Amino acid sequence: MTAPPPSVEAFDLVIFGGTGDLALRKLLPAMFHRFLDGQIPPSSRIIGVAREALDDAGYRAQLRASLIKICDAAKLDQFLQQVFYRPLDARKDDGWDDFAALIASEAGHVRVFYLSTSPNLFVDICNRLGGYGLNQGKSRVVLEKPIGRDLESANRINDAVGKVFNESQTFRIDHYLGKETVQNLLVLRFGNALFEPLWNSAHIDHVQITVAETVGVGHRAGYYDHAGAMRDMVQNHLLQLLCMVAMEPPASLAPDAVRDEKLKVLNALQPIDDAHVGQFTVRGQYRAGVAEGASVPGYPDELGSASNTETFVALKAQIANWRWAGVPFYLRTGKRLPERVSEIVVAFKPVPHSIFDASSGTLTQNRLVLRLQPDEGVKLWLTIKHPGPGGLRLRTVPLDMSFAEAFGAQQPDAYERLLLDVVRGNPTLFMRRDEVEAAWRWADPILAGWANANEAPRPYAAGSWGPSAAVALIERDGRTWHDDSE
Ligand code: BG6
Repeated sequence: MTAPPPSVEAFDLVIFGGTGDLALRKLLPAMFHRFLDGQIPPSSRIIGVAREALDDAGYRAQLRASLIKICDAAKLDQFLQQVFYRPLDARKDDGWDDFAALIASEAGHVRVFYLSTSPNLFVDICNRLGGYGLNQGKSRVVLEKPIGRDLESANRINDAVGKVFNESQTFRIDHYLGKETVQNLLVLRFGNALFEPLWNSAHIDHVQITVAETVGVGHRAGYYDHAGAMRDMVQNHLLQLLCMVAMEPPASLAPDAVRDEKLKVLNALQPIDDAHVGQFTVRGQYRAGVAEGASVPGYPDELGSASNTETFVALKAQIANWRWAGVPFYLRTGKRLPERVSEIVVAFKPVPHSIFDASSGTLTQNRLVLRLQPDEGVKLWLTIKHPGPGGLRLRTVPLDMSFAEAFGAQQPDAYERLLLDVVRGNPTLFMRRDEVEAAWRWADPILAGWANANEAPRPYAAGSWGPSAAVALIERDGRTWHDDSE
């Protein structure tokens, strides 16, 4: 039996960037799903804030158009009664008095200020929240990634935010940590006796982490061109996944117990400096091609100009500690790849000696595949005897647990879990300041190495698996990227 979702205190969720892509595509649908499950107390309010001159009715009409797909109009109308809008500019005082009065009208509510804006507005918004006396009672601020564009700018933001909100009020969100399979990794590793004894360099050959997307950057090109795949995906999502695979068992799920262990992994990442950036990393940029059956333009066409920004990264990371020395972690992410798939593959070492003769076929490594999306689930690839008389033939087949088949219901979106964790004040699945810093400390030399090399990213056709150098990166080591159809 699964427990019903735990209730939360009444809250105000203020979304800065309330008319933006993330708010409309993810945050508001997530809250609507929680509403449908009866988890949003009736006096709670969701307040969209942006520069557009809208009123409550105009904002609700905008939301209605996108949320009606989820549920019938009656339920949606009930939900929208709890949604409000205030036009505000982070850099001007107009409207802030009225906004402050609105927030003050529910003094007992938990206050969540979600900054779903460009990071260069974080400081202005926090200063105004502080200046207008809005950090009162149970107030929390949520910062979207990437926080800054390098260690220095991240420090500047964190210092300024820290003048208004203390660390325990600051929730640095990485929505990958809210994905079901990522949380399941904790349970799989630490709720089963089976894996942990094998979870080290004596038994694991290597780990692969792939986050592949079919979409291009589209209308996000303005933001994306200043970020690129390294800042948009690797510095945060992929490194957080790596931490969940590689961390030592925390003593409990207490927020700092988990985050202390992740930090140790980040601090143990071997730096990739100028001299090694060409050997251990590959950056690419998509060109025109075919994605999901349709012809699509290349990145420079979408952007409207040539650019040096990477839309693909593959790299080989190493963790210099006792558990992982000598075990490469191959990371790969990109836009306009052939399929949307995010997975972690743990490849075990081959058996020390084969008792089977060549006519039986080849022995393959055991692989544990955690599929984050789509089709969330876990597969353990095992070697078995192919059934049938006459000879002994080896086959590799998966023990396959699809969450959809096992549990029926559609998996909740990561934001559903994480937004309510903020209301509850539980930061376990959020990044602590020192984690963000350690991640930048590792990413910065790679970014600097690329800048110093001054080479354009390698082109790849949309709909392909990135530049051929990404295949060479792993094949040089006698390994291949995992193909789930094998
Ligand atoms: C976001 C990135 O953090 O994650 C996007 O900014 C990316 O560029 C997205 O598309 C991927 O998230 P998901 O949950 O769709 O895999």
